Amino acid sequence: MSESIVGLKRTDMCGTLREGDVGREVVLMGWCHKARDLGGLTFITLRDRSGEVQLVITPDSSEDIRTKASKVRSEFVLAAKGKVQKRSAPNEKMPTGMIEIAVVDLRIISESETPPFYIEDDDTANEALRLKYRYLDLRRPVMQNNMILRHKIAKSARDYFDEKGFLEIETPMLGKSTPEGARDYLVPSRVKNGSFFALPQSPQLYKQLLMLAGYDRYMQIARCFRDEDLRADRQPEFTQMDLEMSFVDCDDIMGVTEGFVARVFKDVLDIDIELPIRRITWQEAMERYGSDKPDLRFGMELQDISDWASTVDFVVFKNALEDKGLVKAVVIKGGAAFSRKEIDALGEVCKTYKAKGMAWIVPAEQPRGSFLKFLKPEDIEALAQKTGAGADDLICIVADKFKVVHDSLGQLRIAAANKLGLIKKDDFKLCWVTEFPMFEWSEEEGRFMAMHHPFTCPMDEDLDHLEADQGKVRSKAYDIVLNGCELGGGSIRIHDRDLQMRIFKLLGFTAEAAQEQFGFLLDAFKYGVPPHGGLAIGLDRFVMLLTGAGSIREVIAFPKVQNSSDLMTDAPAPVSEAQLEELGIGVSSSSDGNNDDENLVMD
Ligand code: AMO
Repeated sequence: MSESIVGLKRTDMCGTLREGDVGREVVLMGWCHKARDLGGLTFITLRDRSGEVQLVITPDSSEDIRTKASKVRSEFVLAAKGKVQKRSAPNEKMPTGMIEIAVVDLRIISESETPPFYIEDDDTANEALRLKYRYLDLRRPVMQNNMILRHKIAKSARDYFDEKGFLEIETPMLGKSTPEGARDYLVPSRVKNGSFFALPQSPQLYKQLLMLAGYDRYMQIARCFRDEDLRADRQPEFTQMDLEMSFVDCDDIMGVTEGFVARVFKDVLDIDIELPIRRITWQEAMERYGSDKPDLRFGMELQDISDWASTVDFVVFKNALEDKGLVKAVVIKGGAAFSRKEIDALGEVCKTYKAKGMAWIVPAEQPRGSFLKFLKPEDIEALAQKTGAGADDLICIVADKFKVVHDSLGQLRIAAANKLGLIKKDDFKLCWVTEFPMFEWSEEEGRFMAMHHPFTCPMDEDLDHLEADQGKVRSKAYDIVLNGCELGGGSIRIHDRDLQMRIFKLLGFTAEAAQEQFGFLLDAFKYGVPPHGGLAIGLDRFVMLLTGAGSIREVIAFPKVQNSSDLMTDAPAPVSEAQLEELGIGVSSSSDGNNDDENLVMD
């Protein structure tokens, strides 16, 4: 049975009706959330994206309505006309719980098979199933709220930047590869067989060219594509709130961004963010938190105990210090209560980040620890004194090179805080991380790489030792960090052609290679370039953090899974021989395109 809505015009959304509406005649349309037949008396919970309301069909209703009501099942689409009346038994938990609709016309617009999972917020259906039937999953109120909040953030962004004189300008999807550091998604050209467009990893070069073209203040809610390993906060297609400004320095861009972030917090969560947002240099962030995206919701900072370690007769410490490394510790308050297994798990965290091991001590009267035989009682005493650790605490120690010590203890810090329940989702702590190193040594490539991207301007103070001491050069780059997650990043750009060529050279590009890849930018730089800079906020991440969602998949309508495929459409999928031929493409080995459902959505 499928009836039409002809003659009925919706008057209200289900979730908006209140006691003040009692006596009104309303027409509602939506999905049946639940139908309960209590022998002649039928209650139907009708749902649309605004919420739910109860329809009531009584033995006094017409036979036609009663017959139809008895057929209604979950997820049927219904249209109902009726009078709003006060409920005899109010439901305090429902915003519309004081009222119900006494139905005088009921139409079954569309029937539904039994869905593969309940459309409930607390449904525990496995994520692969939810993604296969995403259109059903998106009916769940929690998902609808996420989408609504996402819309609100995008609207706040457009309003805010418009007020500040920014123009939204679209940049191409089909373009030339930009070196953002990930693999490109390529699109073959039919007209020029063997040539490819790259989908943008970000609008970076285009927005710089817009500054050169005199547009001064640009913004765009931009789709970006990166073929990289997925995580909870990474998708192959994602959205940036992208901006660029001319005639500015770091403070201008950070100021505008702070205003935007504060505006979103106010508009969306009615939270006042304290401005200006705290700034931490990259060096300080690494030294104190072992991370360039420090989570400031809890303390447990890393402490340098190299001086103490040099007085102890323990070969692991000695070797690390002789090898120009250092020894650092994290004190876990109350960690003395951890079992051996729990402490070993923290050691495993360190090993994942390349530490050879993690030494630990509980400085109690009867000390416990992994290297006690190398320690005299006064060594333990001195360490407890230095680190402020007490008898109930656990001191975790890693000795190695700078990167390994900080990476591993930084992660241990987070693991321990999670374990102790110190991390609250609704506590929001923002910071800027500034003065990033310009270059980063890549073991894989055996050369220095740009830490941000090659158009980032080095700090003026460091220009003189650009060639002499590449590893020490800092850049005018900044990241904005929210609760340990990199929310956005940007930089002041190089606007001088010669300096840009110097940087390309340091990154291993020959003049010819630079010209081939970035010729259009270098050519443009011949025609008057304003000093400029910008930033991009990861919109998906922002929504994820504001909603408290566990992954950005929860705030993207149709996300991809671990192997970058879409479980609903089965994309990517093979294409016809004819399509390949037209593109001049031969496929050497083909997969069957099927998804192995196991572990597809793990993080
Ligand atoms: P960056 O590469 O740091 O900078 O990206 C900016 C922000 O985009 C988000 N982000 C992602 N979100 C989801 N999935 C991904 N795969 C993903 N990759 C990045 C992050 C990140 O902070 N063009 C420069 C910006 C600039 O210099 O103006 C850029 O893209 O939140």
